[in-house]
Amino acid sequence: MKDLKAIILGILVGLPVLVILFAFGVYYLGCGTNNTCYGAAAPLGTPIPTLIPASLPAPKVGADAAPLKPRCHVAALDLLGAWVSAGYQETEPFHFTDVTGLDCTANFKDDVQMLFITPNVWYDGAPACTTCHYADVIKATKNMDLSSYAGILAGSGRANAEPKGNDILGGGTWDQALLYAMLYAPDGKTTINRPAMPLGRPANVPAKGPVIAAGIPPAQ
Ligand code: HEC
Repeated sequence: MKDLKAIILGILVGLPVLVILFAFGVYYLGCGTNNTCYGAAAPLGTPIPTLIPASLPAPKVGADAAPLKPRCHVAALDLLGAWVSAGYQETEPFHFTDVTGLDCTANFKDDVQMLFITPNVWYDGAPACTTCHYADVIKATKNMDLSSYAGILAGSGRANAEPKGNDILGGGTWDQALLYAMLYAPDGKTTINRPAMPLGRPANVPAKGPVIAAGIPPAQ
């Protein structure tokens, strides 16, 4: 009987004490000791972001994806002429003046070679020079290989695959070069009464060929 009384008393006293301690604890955690109850305030925003903030620039697509390096623009024959006049080097860069008068820099591999090996450059539907003037010089038209630097320098008429044929680069004098004579074609006609290159070239292709993107402009 005494035990029961003690238990009841314990509960009667202990429970309110626990309740008070609990309430105080909650208040303390929420409000600390200085009565500012920020701890109890609802957190700002949702903890899991539902939307990615729209602060990033929009992703780029298509032509904008990679920033294009600035190019110069020049008529195909002016580019070839600058290369030949500068001594037709394979790796040395050379200078040319582009259509806006900039002093631009180009080299054989990046700028000149594509005029020989790429279709659709001289006009829409144009075959590459190498369609006819390819590496197998014994079979190639005019026994001439325009597919490589060495082939261009070796020239035409290499029926037995001679290392050196007829120079088509005029020895570095562009307006004397057979290459120039076969490519300079006002109204689609060369001035030497031979078919303009690429063979089948329509009359509406500019005399000095198309203006192409080539080389790089001077550093700003
Ligand atoms: C569809 C074939 C074909 C294509 C493509 C072609 N040529 Fe020719 N090329 C010929 C033929 C055919 C001749 C001979 C023309 C003639 O009868 O005078 C020739 C001749 C030449 C000659 C003169 C060679 C010599 O010693 O007489 C040069 C230089 C030349 N081509 C350069 C080029 C260049 C540069 C290109 C590309 C821009 C090109 N050719 C594209 C067929 C082609």
